[in-house]
Amino acid sequence: MKNMLVTGGCGFIGSNFIRILLSESDFTGRIINLDKLTYAGNLENLDGVSDQFKDRYVFVKGDICDSETVSELFKSYGVDTICHFAAESHVDRSIVQPDAFIRTNINGTFNLLEYARLNGVELFHHISTDEVYGSLGETGLFTETTPYSPNSPYSASKAASDLLVRAYFKTYGIPVTISNCSNNYGPYQFPEKLIPLMILNGFERKALPVYGRGVNIRDWLYVRDHCIAIWKIMKHGKRGETYNIGGDCEIRNIDVVEMICNLLDEICPGKTPARELITFVKDRPGHDMRYAVDSQKLQRELKWRPEETFESGLAKTVQWYLDHTEWVNRIKSGAYTQWISDHYGGI
Ligand code: NAD
Ligand code: DAU
Repeated sequence: MKNMLVTGGCGFIGSNFIRILLSESDFTGRIINLDKLTYAGNLENLDGVSDQFKDRYVFVKGDICDSETVSELFKSYGVDTICHFAAESHVDRSIVQPDAFIRTNINGTFNLLEYARLNGVELFHHISTDEVYGSLGETGLFTETTPYSPNSPYSASKAASDLLVRAYFKTYGIPVTISNCSNNYGPYQFPEKLIPLMILNGFERKALPVYGRGVNIRDWLYVRDHCIAIWKIMKHGKRGETYNIGGDCEIRNIDVVEMICNLLDEICPGKTPARELITFVKDRPGHDMRYAVDSQKLQRELKWRPEETFESGLAKTVQWYLDHTEWVNRIKSGAYTQWISDHYGGI
């Protein structure tokens, strides 16, 4: 793995992954970060990385669906490994406007696979989600053999991309690995997702919109633990295999929001307790009730375990958002386009 193409490296998980890989891991090669910089992609998430790792990091603004761009990257940088994060990732947006999800998540993955097939790669690692398995009842866990049963345009598009990756392994022998992870949280998450949205609304004393009755359950994993799992799978995972990644941390949404409220009350107390801001709103259509991941395979075969507890990870995350108000303000106002222009000469 000398020249790794990371797609979507300016998003939440991709930017955490790049930072960890370059500064804390045993990876010694070069990263070529291909990102379209959609509303969710932000160069500021990797501020300082290109200066610190001049010879080992390249950013290319471009679309994974664009054949010329991807072809050129293979030629120019001798790409031998792909770690594929790029996606439209927000379920609510997929309900309102599914087309971008079909294009990027399905056609974009197909385009990358085609160039991996034409040029040959050492590894194509595909980042996917536990949402492809659908919704659980009160008991049971998602294992790697749980049948796919996606319920939103987002999860259906991710399921389609997983199946394409699998097919390219079976048909063409492309060395692939796939990881299906549960809900991530931590630094640099775009504030449309539950945890950063609640932290920032709470901080500003705005309403905290909880869908339905707040009883839906997600399995939370600190982003750093996800990134470490991905690197372990890339290095030691069996080619052609899928690995589930989960936090073993099932929590109801309302309990997550109340924990955030308690932290906000401790760190920046308002006149009234933050939980008074909780507002129950209309439910998400097709809202999956419960996700819970069995990551025994990853734990057994690759000796991975989450290191962060939800309590410690959440406290770090709340503090991170409070410490990064300028990042938040730029994201929210769209002013980060100006920031990028000032810092990178307008891309
Ligand atoms: P994100 O929305 O924060 O980032 C996505 C990145 O992809 C952005 O930088 C965006 O600019 C880029 N992108 C989008 N379309 C592109 C295109 N056509 N060409 C090039 N770049 C494009 O997403 P995230 O939360 O970091 O998720 C990353 C991956 O992990 C996704 O594949 C997602 O399905 C998966 N995943 C996310 C979670 C989670 O909780 N966030 C959990 C499991 C799996
Ligand atoms: O499970 C992995 C998935 O987790 C990833 O594949 C997705 O990319 C990621 O966005 C996430 O999907 P969710 O839909 O679970 O995450 P979200 O943060 O949007 O919502 C988490 C839960 O909180 C969900 O049950 C809906 C609820 N919710 C969300 C928002 C934004 C609310 O109650 N209020 C809100 O305002």
